[in-house]
Amino acid sequence: MKYIIACFMAFFVAGGVSAQNKSEVALNAKINRIVSKMTLEEKIEMLHGNALFSSGGVKRLGIPELTCDDGPLGVREEIKRFDWASANWTTDSATFLPNGSAIAATWNPIMANRYGVVIGEEANARKKNVMLAPAFNICRMPLCGRTYEYYSEDPYLNSQLVVQSVKGIQSQHVAACIKHFAANNQEFNRDSVNTIVDERVLREIYFPAFKAAIQQGNAYTIMSAYNKLNGYWCSENDFLLNKVLKNEWGFKGVVMSDWSGTHHTVAAANNGLDIEMGSSGPYDQWYFAEPLRNAVKEGRVPVKTIDDKVRRILWVMCHTSMSANHPNGSIATLEHAKTAYDIASESIVLLKNDNHLLPLKADTIKSIAVIGDNAIRTFALGGYGAGVKAKYEVTALAGIKSRFGKTAKISFARGYKTNYLASNTDEQNLGYDQPDQKLIDEAVALAKNSDVAILCIGSNREYESEGHDRKSLELPFGEQALVNAVTAVNANTVVVIMAGAPYDLNEIKKSNHAVVWSWFNGSEAGNALADVLKGGVNPSGRLPFTFPVSLKDSPAAALNTYPGKGGTAEYKEGILVGYRWYDTKKIEPEFPFGYGLSYTDFSISKLSTDKSSYKKSETIRAKFTIKNTGSRYGAEVVQLYISDPVCSVLRPEKELKGFEKIFLKPGETKTVEMQVNVADLAFYDELKKSWNAEAGEYILQLGNSSRNISKTVKVSVK
Ligand code: BGC
Repeated sequence: MKYIIACFMAFFVAGGVSAQNKSEVALNAKINRIVSKMTLEEKIEMLHGNALFSSGGVKRLGIPELTCDDGPLGVREEIKRFDWASANWTTDSATFLPNGSAIAATWNPIMANRYGVVIGEEANARKKNVMLAPAFNICRMPLCGRTYEYYSEDPYLNSQLVVQSVKGIQSQHVAACIKHFAANNQEFNRDSVNTIVDERVLREIYFPAFKAAIQQGNAYTIMSAYNKLNGYWCSENDFLLNKVLKNEWGFKGVVMSDWSGTHHTVAAANNGLDIEMGSSGPYDQWYFAEPLRNAVKEGRVPVKTIDDKVRRILWVMCHTSMSANHPNGSIATLEHAKTAYDIASESIVLLKNDNHLLPLKADTIKSIAVIGDNAIRTFALGGYGAGVKAKYEVTALAGIKSRFGKTAKISFARGYKTNYLASNTDEQNLGYDQPDQKLIDEAVALAKNSDVAILCIGSNREYESEGHDRKSLELPFGEQALVNAVTAVNANTVVVIMAGAPYDLNEIKKSNHAVVWSWFNGSEAGNALADVLKGGVNPSGRLPFTFPVSLKDSPAAALNTYPGKGGTAEYKEGILVGYRWYDTKKIEPEFPFGYGLSYTDFSISKLSTDKSSYKKSETIRAKFTIKNTGSRYGAEVVQLYISDPVCSVLRPEKELKGFEKIFLKPGETKTVEMQVNVADLAFYDELKKSWNAEAGEYILQLGNSSRNISKTVKVSVK
């Protein structure tokens, strides 16, 4: 026994395990030997939280606790071990990274990877083994309070990005915890709602990014969602966790519950949950503590099931806390700030610029009125969602001052009040949507006497928050009245909207010439925004979700399936989520998926494929030429959609199957190839219980949004 313990200690503590050098097979054999030496009590200790952000280790065997932390905006501030209050550290100020929909708006997997590397390095500096990120539930309903955290409405875009986020995090020997599995698409009733979703819809819309994060990104951990899926809690859902995740996808890591999202001992243990996490003790009374030990003793949960869970945890540890050459990490470095800046710069979406007011001509502008509470607001913290104690956060006003302050007089007016807190009741928040005439008058007076007005409006982290959904798409805080009043007195008004989800911009789209979309854009948000306004950065962000003209146009609202009835939300729109719905139903959006302008122009030509007919095992190589026809360096996001016009089942009008962000100098031309596996043209056939790429004709559509297709080509599949 002593010998085995000594080996174990040497293996883990002194030498560590190099996942790179040892085969997984050898690693598993070692893990099995270790597990065989553990008592049931020791195993159970490892299967549940022992504090807010850790689960138990086994001191006797030198197995440490597994420590975790939120995610996704950065590594959150240290809190007390048993309490959400700040631990008042002075060493936990971190980089605030752009939110999930901002990352998605870059349409650039390199940015997602760099995001992950920063998260991993900062997690190491804080001794966290698991980062509860990325979060990428499909944006099914634009009102969902966590839309800002999640990535996009499209499974392919999500997949391409989250694989890289996961790889970036895990390159630092920190486990990503991908979340929330699955169909957790609304905050309203999130911890009780039963989502009813067909298998085809799960396979085509809600699963792909999770599958990719596991099979291509090798994600070490996953968080089960709060909701029920097809009648069973996600934390005890045999189909979800055992059949699909572990057996079919070959997931080797750990399934962790969302905080207090476990409901039973035996069902959760037998149906795939590995670690129960939560918010408050007594920890030894949790489902996966004493009750689990008793259930094993009574034979209701097999010992081999417990061993499998422990093996999985040790496997994660071998790749993280106990890995060889474990990096020390670093926090809030200049390099991390540069990553935050680059992501923010690439995420900003130019929605309108029809008078070419942007980029602002700094040499002729002598005065700028910066208006709006969001110009001075920071977004690292707020509401119920996890936040970051940012080392610093450049506000829009600070960014504009630093970029324009030397040549222009910059003045500020608040413009509107934000009487809204996520923790308030509806009654307490009453009137939050009302304009403040006095603040509007001050703003108008300033705008009248300035060459340019920059309106910084939108929402904030209280208004868009975990735990509740928005009630409507309307801009809050009476902002529309402010926009109207300022625009009426200054024709050179730029509207900048900072938010994480779609809003009703109908009025602004009609009446304003320059409209810019920014996000909760991290530590460097203000600098990135000011560089876009000044033209140092040419905007290249593209919308990761559709903005509907009206809420009733959106699928879940149109079919009256949100927020559900009697605690059940039936996903009646099926596969027609996001642009798949608007395009198939021919509903004109306010701004389409994939949309965004640039300060330069591009032309796409010569779309062709290497063949005209393909076998199911083959890959389509689509080639096209793109030219920057304008006078500025910039990037276009070329999007490849496919459609299957004749099919035995309903298919969406188009589905994204490829994209590429292409940077070009003025006048530069590039020929670009995109590859699509014919297998990826398949739909999930409920009858055959497998993927089916039917023989026949498919149309490849190339464009720069789901509604702006410039070239098409037909291919056939044999
Ligand atoms: C959220 C998770 C988060 C956890 C721990 C839950 O309320 O849904 O995303 O990781 O809390 O903070």
